[in-house]
Amino acid sequence: MRFTVAIDGPAAAGKGTISKAVAAHFGFAHLDTGLLYRAVGAKVLEGADPVEAAQSLVPGDIGGDALRTPAVGQAASRVAVLPEVRAALADFQRAFARREGGAVLDGRDIGTVICPGAEVKFYVTASDAVRAGRRYLELAGKGVATSEAEVLADLRARDARDAGRTAAPLKPAPDALVLDTTALSIEEAVARAVAEVARVLASRAPGR
Ligand code: DC
Repeated sequence: MRFTVAIDGPAAAGKGTISKAVAAHFGFAHLDTGLLYRAVGAKVLEGADPVEAAQSLVPGDIGGDALRTPAVGQAASRVAVLPEVRAALADFQRAFARREGGAVLDGRDIGTVICPGAEVKFYVTASDAVRAGRRYLELAGKGVATSEAEVLADLRARDARDAGRTAAPLKPAPDALVLDTTALSIEEAVARAVAEVARVLASRAPGR
């Protein structure tokens, strides 16, 4: 069975948690596409050319807590404006999306550009203050020295760049179900996402 769940939204809205929970619930594979851009951004911080870094990315580059820092997030957002970088990462994401057994991909352009035919699309969002508060707690828990104001400024700068770029800007697909996690707990948001995926799966003809 091939079945793609596309989850987009701004930084720290809860996409990662919802994606992992949906993937675990249905036994689908999960790809955090932000990690691809973060891996390229990290190489650029070390002096690499962004397009060459994207074209030569290997699975070993993707992963590890070192990619989760605000500096690498900003570098990722900067390389993500380059169409050649996005093109170099597109085939891998599309192949992952159509793998046998179902896939959940989260990012910024999954429902709009990478998988416009995804069976289910979500756009996960939340107020700036709520997102900054959550990301601050996450970073503080890892021992990163920062403040909530700094995290808020970082998220806003990244969102403005991600939504304002010409190549695959952050925006909801017209057919995406919006999950606003400002007032919803993550458990409620996960429950809604799981219910929607279950509904679409149940509506499909057997054997497809
Ligand atoms: O999801 P994240 O915060 O790890 O993503 C880091 C950056 O990568 C984000 O600011 C923009 C870019 N990105 C993108 O342009 N397209 C995606 N599908 C995923 C991430």
